Amino acid sequence: MKVLVTGSGGREHALAWKLAQSDRISEVLVAPGNAGTAREPGVCNVPLEADENARLVAFAITEDVELVIPGPEAPLVAGLVDQMERAGMPCFGPTAAAARLEGSKVFSKEVLDAAGAPTAGFREFTALEPALAHVDERPAPMVVKADGLAAGKGVIIAETRDEARVALRDMLESRAFGEAGLRVLVEDFLEGEEASFIALVDGEHVLPLASSQDHKARDDGDRGPNTGGMGAYSPAPVLDSDVQARVMNEVMHPVVRAMRDKGTPFRGVLYAGLMISPDGAPRVLEFNVRFGDPECQPLMMRMRTDLLDLIEATREGRLDKVRVSWDPRCALGVVMASGGYPGSYAKGHEISGLDTADNSSVKVFHAGTAMNDGEVVTAGGRVLCVTALGDSLPEARDRAYDAVSDISFEGAFHRSDIGARALVRQQ
Ligand code: AMP
Ligand code: GLY
Repeated sequence: MKVLVTGSGGREHALAWKLAQSDRISEVLVAPGNAGTAREPGVCNVPLEADENARLVAFAITEDVELVIPGPEAPLVAGLVDQMERAGMPCFGPTAAAARLEGSKVFSKEVLDAAGAPTAGFREFTALEPALAHVDERPAPMVVKADGLAAGKGVIIAETRDEARVALRDMLESRAFGEAGLRVLVEDFLEGEEASFIALVDGEHVLPLASSQDHKARDDGDRGPNTGGMGAYSPAPVLDSDVQARVMNEVMHPVVRAMRDKGTPFRGVLYAGLMISPDGAPRVLEFNVRFGDPECQPLMMRMRTDLLDLIEATREGRLDKVRVSWDPRCALGVVMASGGYPGSYAKGHEISGLDTADNSSVKVFHAGTAMNDGEVVTAGGRVLCVTALGDSLPEARDRAYDAVSDISFEGAFHRSDIGARALVRQQ
């Protein structure tokens, strides 16, 4: 069968690469994809953007696509699944009503509250004066969050009350995040170690994927501005089996039940961003309604089960009947980014060394790349995610960094300590 993946990042390259290995899939179309998906055997790019929902529906129908797999969140929040299903096109993911778990932080707090699941204390504001008065009474640090989607930029960790005030003025007065920031949360700052808990959910059952962790800060030592993620690995030692059991019992099951009770059952990928306190207690920082990027890249390297089987089981409510088999090896991915990211950066630089980097235990997933006159050039902030398997995390890391050293483009930078937190924990 023919399937359509939407999106253009490293996550979508990894999904397309994995789906192309399925015996039952003849062709993977990617809208719009990148240079990596363009060069992948069994994969073909389509010149449609991931957020052109109506055109994607029309395209899927005309091209006899049998299943659509959206990558990014914004089209899900805007109702891509609802539109596809209304047109009779099977589509993997949550409806717009269920995607509000990511699309509205206030909604996700309501669900967490109804579920009795642990999360940071917060207050919600739409007017500036009461928000500023609240800040006067709170100890710093605190966290100011725009309610809606803000391309990963709507969360400000305020070290001082003044920084919190500036963030509130930016959102509520200067509309720095447009509509998304006209409702804000002021949240307690949580201490601990962050981890990603990614599961398939079929409305009722929860099938956790292997554990993973990403590095959100731009610079070594988890310093510098927040990014979409500079690297990731699986498994993540912080999510040992006790912590995983707690996350299932205290967060995932109650939240899935609460969503069903609200009349908005959740189907698709549910990603809980967690803060794990030193005693192993998980608290929810946020929900995402899609695979993590770059967490998806190491996960797809390790997944042995046919992803199509898992997607079908999710759509059909059979997740209690299936198992996922994983490569016991570790996988680690290092993001190579364009100089200036996460701020502004140049595009169009030629990338060299891509072909020597790939081998049986290394896969270079493309993110911000494009083809130009037969050459692969940079076209985004996060350019590549160089991902490797190894018998241990240090082995996976060394292989990934070996491959990174083969690849170059003008202005390229990467973190040199991906996996460091896990290695400290293992020692
Ligand atoms: P979010 O989009 O809500 O996950 O926030 C983005 C990032 O901000 C998270 O990945 C954390 O690193 C950080 N963050 C968010 N909320 C909190 C919190 N309550 N305490 C500490 N850090 C937070
Ligand atoms: N890596 C973080 C995210 O996908 O949201």
